Amino acid sequence: MVDKPPAALEDRGCAQDGRRFSPSAARNREPVRDALAQVLDGTVHLLEVASGTGEHGAFLTAGLPGLSWTYSDIDPDSLASQRAWQGADETGRLNGPLRIDASTDDWGSAETAPPWDVIFSANMIHIAPWPAATGLLRGAGRLLQPGGYLILYGPFARSGAIAPSNAAFDENLKSRNPDWGVRDLDMDILPLACASGLELFAVTQMPANNLTVFFRRVQAFAVQLSVS
Ligand SMILES: C[S@@+](CC[C@H](N)C(=O)[O-])C[C@H]1O[C@@H](n2cnc3c(N)ncnc32)[C@H](O)[C@@H]1O
Repeated sequence: MVDKPPAALEDRGCAQDGRRFSPSAARNREPVRDALAQVLDGTVHLLEVASGTGEHGAFLTAGLPGLSWTYSDIDPDSLASQRAWQGADETGRLNGPLRIDASTDDWGSAETAPPWDVIFSANMIHIAPWPAATGLLRGAGRLLQPGGYLILYGPFARSGAIAPSNAAFDENLKSRNPDWGVRDLDMDILPLACASGLELFAVTQMPANNLTVFFRRVQAFAVQLSVS
């Protein structure tokens, strides 16, 4: 039997009720909240793709009263942790979790929900094969309401330039799985965004050479057919 690849690169602690905790989420949850708060104004329905332990959703909904957050993931252990965070939630604004494989074009009940205001994904596209990134951008183009945001958090290269810590991380990722790796925002991700009707809205520099990247779904998007 082939071993299942790990869902996370770090040891995730587990509470008795099943909530898992990841050291990286403890470090980045406040900067992530502050970055997202720039656009999370009023009542916001957010779908998180690849929620991992579920800590970002729990922390952000507790701090932002208009925010309704739906968890999702492909990994059963992560989905169990998200369920446990939802069980401990007192805001009533943590939903899901949905089983979503970002690389597919069928995101289950997320497809039939009212168009999402925000789709957020942290630390997924470099720790998953490339189709997870292409599927994520396609999904955002398909399911965001016009003017809605796709927000990505994690390490990126920019036009071929990469911070030394991210280059070392990239090597480490590729040694674990050759299909993983730090993606280039300008050369890899922007063309996908453009093809999905998303435009780059803002890039916020984050601690430890990470970025928060905001894309916005264009108001009217039609697939262009070339007729010969
Ligand atoms: C490094 S963890 C990040 C978790 C969380 N977003 C965070 O920042 O703490 C990567 C997550 O991506 C999920 N993942 C990997 N491939 C996926 C896919 N194709 N679709 C959805 N989730 C995926 C894994 O199960 C895992 O929960």
